[in-house]
Amino acid sequence: MAIELKLRNASIFSLLFFLSFILGSSSTATQHDLRITYAERRIDLTSHIIKVFLTLQVENKGTTPSSEVILAFPPAQIDHIALLKAAVPVGKKKRKTYTSLDVSPKLPDGPNGTKYFSATLLSPLKAGETVTLEVLYILTQSLEPFPTEISQSESQLVYYRDSAIILSPYHIDQQTTFIRTASNRVESFTHVEPTNRAGLEVKYGPYADQPPHSFSPIIVHFENNNPFVVVEELVREVEISHWGSIQVREQYTLAHAGARLKGAFSRVDYQSKPSVSGVASFKQLLATLPPRVNSVYYRDEIGNISTSRLRLNLKKSELEIEPRYPLFGGWRATFVIGYRLPLEDFLYESTDGKQRYLNFTFGCPMAEAVVNKLAIKVALPEGSKNPTVSAPFTVEQHLETTYSYLDVLGRTVVVLEKKNVVPEHNSPFQVYYNFNPAFMLVEPLILVSILTLFFLACIAYLHGDISIHKQKTS
Ligand SMILES: *[C@@H]1O[C@H](CO)[C@@H](O)[C@H](O)[C@H]1NC(C)=O
Ligand SMILES: *[C@@H]1O[C@H](CO)[C@@H](O)[C@H](O)[C@H]1NC(C)=O
Ligand SMILES: *[C@@H]1O[C@H](CO)[C@@H](O)[C@H](O)[C@H]1NC(C)=O
Repeated sequence: MAIELKLRNASIFSLLFFLSFILGSSSTATQHDLRITYAERRIDLTSHIIKVFLTLQVENKGTTPSSEVILAFPPAQIDHIALLKAAVPVGKKKRKTYTSLDVSPKLPDGPNGTKYFSATLLSPLKAGETVTLEVLYILTQSLEPFPTEISQSESQLVYYRDSAIILSPYHIDQQTTFIRTASNRVESFTHVEPTNRAGLEVKYGPYADQPPHSFSPIIVHFENNNPFVVVEELVREVEISHWGSIQVREQYTLAHAGARLKGAFSRVDYQSKPSVSGVASFKQLLATLPPRVNSVYYRDEIGNISTSRLRLNLKKSELEIEPRYPLFGGWRATFVIGYRLPLEDFLYESTDGKQRYLNFTFGCPMAEAVVNKLAIKVALPEGSKNPTVSAPFTVEQHLETTYSYLDVLGRTVVVLEKKNVVPEHNSPFQVYYNFNPAFMLVEPLILVSILTLFFLACIAYLHGDISIHKQKTS
């Protein structure tokens, strides 16, 4: 018996080993079959939100079709990727449009902790065929201020680290990288011949015939005085009332994430020499709100702040706000913005007529801001049921209950959360729910009963008054 069991175990193990061998070898085989014939990378360092555009010409040099292309990232970059998209051109020349591909993380990791993502092609790439991939990824908090502390009148210098050679699991025949800096002032950059600099651009390459997983670390040290606006935490409360409006309240904890201010802040210097003093600070913020916004307020813990301007037009509303003091590196400001929107611009009936849905914009209305932690809380009207969310990217979600005036059962609140949010996340999302119109009568009924009770109380009081009066006279 024992021997038989052992034998069976052994055969299961050998089978598993055999399977893993087949799987392992097939995945490496496809990786070796693909080859990048030409790659171009453009890294935009003009703001504190880094955009990288990557064009890859991929050829299948093997014999079996391949359904995916692997994208590779060094471990140091992985936590800073806010967004990763891949698309392929469809159609010929003038009619060319881009269709986006599904991109998902892929395990196991590559050598030296390289992280992989797999872009699934629309149709498998047959042997001998070529496909062009357009990849966009956005990195946040990847510019390191150096020096880490600067005085009020100094410019801010930052380091950007990357590889001169594009990290890839495939052999790359030809490649070039262009890095665009925020200003002409470039203190230093690593040379990996050929390397050239002209104006705002540093060019790495062209490099020929780089084997898979080639990596060549570089550092670019340059001036970047753009506002490093980081919202450490943003809570947006969206309350739907079927009585005609949507009330929005946004709580910001904002920080300047650049080089810290060395020494004391001099308001006199700041106001008398605005062009040099505080170049790396910011004092104005621009929030883009939907058109037809009304009842706008802006306040902090002290009270209303009057220094805000609202410009309205048909497409959007722009709210320009100014905190009580300019923000320097390491400084924070907390404030609240509130506004009201017409219901008919955002609430619709689903095509089958059974549900209603809110169509609202995700992300942060503040221009050029990175949000570390975003929560959107949509409070549905009382009596709403079965909420479901449709969003263009994965968001964490859960339900809560809240009570406001005249609520009996409480309102269902759909909470959506996402970390590392950039302006590219400002796209529409929908919250669908079932609603029973009978619930619209609940609040008026409560009001009516309160009023009735009030009148009854008045009558009782008057009545009592009279009776006391009568007693006295008798
Ligand atoms: C891993 O990193 C080490 C040290 O940086 C380097 O020498 C080695 O070539 C790398 N291995 C691969 C496969 O990239
Ligand atoms: C703040 O402004 C809002 C709207 O302009 C106004 O309704 C409110 O009374 C103000 N509050 C204070 C404390 O001034
Ligand atoms: C949501 O609104 C956007 C415009 O803001 C529109 O393009 C989109 O089609 C709407 N989505 C739905 C499902 O109604």
